[in-house]
Amino acid sequence: MPDTARSKAKVAIFISGTGTNMAALLYASRLAQAPFEIVLVASNRETASGLSFAQLEGVPTFVHSHKGHTRAEHDAAMEAAAHEAGAQYIVLAGYMRILSEAFVERWAGRILNIHPSLLPKYKGLDTYSRAIEAGDAHAGASVHLVTPELDAGEVLAQARVAIAPEDTPETLAARVKVAEHQLFPRAVADYVSRGNDPDHLYTRVADLALALPEAHAKDSHGSPGFRVGPVKSGKFFAHFSQQHHGSEHIAVLVKTGGMEELLDLVEAQPEVYFKPAYYGASGWIGLILNRPDVDWGHVAQWLERSWRSVAPARLTRLLDAADQF
Ligand code: GAR
Repeated sequence: MPDTARSKAKVAIFISGTGTNMAALLYASRLAQAPFEIVLVASNRETASGLSFAQLEGVPTFVHSHKGHTRAEHDAAMEAAAHEAGAQYIVLAGYMRILSEAFVERWAGRILNIHPSLLPKYKGLDTYSRAIEAGDAHAGASVHLVTPELDAGEVLAQARVAIAPEDTPETLAARVKVAEHQLFPRAVADYVSRGNDPDHLYTRVADLALALPEAHAKDSHGSPGFRVGPVKSGKFFAHFSQQHHGSEHIAVLVKTGGMEELLDLVEAQPEVYFKPAYYGASGWIGLILNRPDVDWGHVAQWLERSWRSVAPARLTRLLDAADQF
């Protein structure tokens, strides 16, 4: 699919302060071909100078002071604003509040944060002075997924910044900021684009397919696939298809019960299924992966069903027994 035909990921940014990272994200979002747009800048501080900057640039803003509210109440107000703006992702750019566990879980995989250290070093506050005092050669910044544990989610990208002998926390912070402004927009762009990245999608499919008993990867007609059984004589239960035969889809092909089921599914949910060229004639259906909100549990179910349809009985019995636990 050409880039221009894709809709941009909608991002809400939460800030508490000056918002220079927010500004970096905003300007990056306005470059040609940026894969995300900023639909809201929200803050817990009325005085956050980043808010007036966002207003000047025509970005909707929202303020809700945390004072006098419980954490859950405050989070709910921020979340409602993000939903109203149509946000698909929340990006924390100097948002100095800890979010409630329930909030973080509702947005799991869709909240990113930037932290001024090379995680897992120096979680929390005073990261620059801790790096200087430890005699580190480098400080830096990390973009990571937000999980309930503070600064502990998967690190997506990092930038290293050399520490000078004469550095103070302030001088070091100023250079780390410059690095952050380069790092953050790139990391957000890469992350929201993962759903269109064939390598990322293949890895996810392979993780699920290879978790099935006696599954192995094997190419077929130049495309990756997955077989069950002995490495020499196994049977295919899935094929990974990357924009093959003129299709714009990145997909995994799995076996249906036959042409009738295949055509029914494609007719009922054309955004999820398609009839692939060549394989479709023998009952393989395409599950489209390069679309928003892929349900990976659903993909896993299809892989298991397809695996069952070709796996020897001794292996399906094994899986049945495992399923009982
Ligand atoms: C950034 O340096 C960011 O890494 C840090 O706050 C600063 C915000 O600056 N975030 C944290 O410390 C989060 N624990 P900005 O308002 O100029 O973007």
